[in-house]
Amino acid sequence: MDQPESDFSGSEIILSKPRVLSGIQPTHDSFHLGNYLGALKQWVQLQDSHDAFYCVVDLHALTVETDPKNFKHRTLVSAAQLIALGIDPNKSTLFIQSQVPAHNQLAWVLECITGFGEASRMTQFKDKSQKAGSDRTVVGLFTYPILQAADILLYQAEFVPVGEDQRQHIELTRDLGQRFNNTFKTSRPVFKIPQPHIVKSIAKINDLQEPTAKMSKSSASMSGVVEMLEPADSIMKKFKSAVTDAGKEIKFSEKDKAGISNLITIYSALTGKTHDQIEQEFAGKGYGDFKIKVAEVVIETFAPIRTKTNDLLSDPAELSKILKAGSAKANQVANQTLSDAYAALGVVQNG
Ligand code: TYM
Repeated sequence: MDQPESDFSGSEIILSKPRVLSGIQPTHDSFHLGNYLGALKQWVQLQDSHDAFYCVVDLHALTVETDPKNFKHRTLVSAAQLIALGIDPNKSTLFIQSQVPAHNQLAWVLECITGFGEASRMTQFKDKSQKAGSDRTVVGLFTYPILQAADILLYQAEFVPVGEDQRQHIELTRDLGQRFNNTFKTSRPVFKIPQPHIVKSIAKINDLQEPTAKMSKSSASMSGVVEMLEPADSIMKKFKSAVTDAGKEIKFSEKDKAGISNLITIYSALTGKTHDQIEQEFAGKGYGDFKIKVAEVVIETFAPIRTKTNDLLSDPAELSKILKAGSAKANQVANQTLSDAYAALGVVQNG
């Protein structure tokens, strides 16, 4: 697997435990394979070597979600899935964004140093607002990346493990952090400037039906989106009908064989095998055989996560206890940074 582009070295990690922070939206009943490979797998790995803060960003999901019953359920399912896939609350601080009010408070401060044009250039906002039209685009979607910047800067995170689609938002976060530090100078800069932690080979997992487009929760059709909590037979069906090219060879070439290359990427990420090893393993075999094999590996990975998620959801008191402890710790760190930012701004504070 490729090395991520952030440049920490092993020895540094063990000595000083740099901090990582990341978030995921609870916009669906389940996370998908793109979330898992592009981000969540790294979250689990990083918690051993880093001081990790991970949050379910429910406030961000308000830009699309409207049904309160779904909203609550999806927030809890998301937290349960994170624990089930390996986020250990004894190692990582796991919390729900809305339980830490400093996120909104710092977001406002950052909104006041963000240019209108700068926010208008965010490609995710441009894509989504163009599709929906300006009358149906909420202002929250426009300010969304600034809230994300607050999520990150509050925790003095050095690294932010995400997929490729978040790169521009992390760039904005860096710009805003630097701007604040330069404008409101104190003896020590208020914010640490974070780096994205993006593993190139798995930074963009594509839709099985449209293999040049990102696998996404907001796709018009779910037939090319593989969900983590999906039953095995349904996962198998989706892989069997994955779009491939007219050729026969199992060979990695994103340009000529987008579908097969996407499947090789998935198989490689889950088995640890290199592209060469995979090409050799399937030499002389057909696409059908390969698709079944990839599906089997995905099913094997997700089956225990599905069972554990259901177990966790059947004990809401325990889940709530974990999240309460997480938000207590998150509030401590976030409130300190907010207070430093307010002090730098000259905001009158009590005490
Ligand atoms: P979200 O909820 O859309 O996705 C969560 C994570 O999954 C990654 N991802 C993918 N990676 C590879 N291939 C794909 N097809 C794919 N689809 C999604 C995303 O890059 C992300 O890392 N804005 C963020 C949420 C957020 C956040 C934060 C992230 C809010 N605050 C602070 C980091 C730090 C988002 O919408 O992710």
